[in-house]
Amino acid sequence: MTAPHADEATTGGVDAYTAAQTAQDAAVGHRSRDFKVWRGTDGVGEFRSYTTETDDGMVVLDAIHQIQAAQANDLAVRWNCKAGKCGSCSAEINGKPKLMCMTRLDELPAGEPVTVEPMRAFPHVRDLVTDVSWNFRVKPRIQKFTPRPPDDPDGTWRIQQRDVDRVQEFRKCIECFLCQDVCHVLRDHHMHEQFVGPRFLVYAAALEMHPLDIADRTTELKEEFGIGYCNITKCCTTVCPEHITITDNAIIPLKERVVDKHYDPLRALVRLVRGKRKD
Ligand code: SF4
Ligand code: SF4
Ligand code: FES
Repeated sequence: MTAPHADEATTGGVDAYTAAQTAQDAAVGHRSRDFKVWRGTDGVGEFRSYTTETDDGMVVLDAIHQIQAAQANDLAVRWNCKAGKCGSCSAEINGKPKLMCMTRLDELPAGEPVTVEPMRAFPHVRDLVTDVSWNFRVKPRIQKFTPRPPDDPDGTWRIQQRDVDRVQEFRKCIECFLCQDVCHVLRDHHMHEQFVGPRFLVYAAALEMHPLDIADRTTELKEEFGIGYCNITKCCTTVCPEHITITDNAIIPLKERVVDKHYDPLRALVRLVRGKRKD
């Protein structure tokens, strides 16, 4: 039996070391992952492939930052808090609207590239950035909070805790616009002129169901804000990172109010006599 050639011994040693290192890296969650990131300007572009090292606990935004730092310095991505609170890092990850900073890589299927692309319901600017300014033009169109006169001479009101609790959920909205992105009325039919989208139905619901508010937004909801275009698919509720029950708790009660006001003469008469109904 002859001793292995020196080069073979060296190569074997390197292979053994690499295998051991790979096993150790895998044990601590360190591995390479492939990404397909949409690159382009004004809606014209393509997916480009990148590979980067990842560790347990990393989120998609971490990987995008690594790619940006080491391989694509000009990659445009919007983010601010990296804590799921500013609503800036919305994108489509493996085809689903999500926050990049709250989507852990270990939640995504291993062994296949992670795709990251911009939201589709809004005009594209560059790479992962879209122009969401339409949303900020919609908001001022909704009638502002209009409180009833104080209940007591000292300027205070009396309200039921259950009425406060009902609108509390709506106030969790971080304006990420993922619900707007997934809604087929905006995403596929581009009816931005006719429909304000689920985010602003939530906003209207927060005002409309506020225990002190006396404004009536039902006519605008029906005629200007397009609530009738919502066919209750619940896709918006599914993607909301704040777990707001958009459809059941905001949109359906608003639709009921619109029907009461505009299609049920008896209820309309009762409302006229009793003032705005709060339940
Ligand atoms: S439930 Fe209505 S608002 Fe929500 S995604 Fe479906 S159609 Fe759009
Ligand atoms: S309702 Fe939910 S999904 Fe829609 S903008 Fe607010 S936080 Fe985002
Ligand atoms: S960076 Fe703020 S929500 Fe993701």
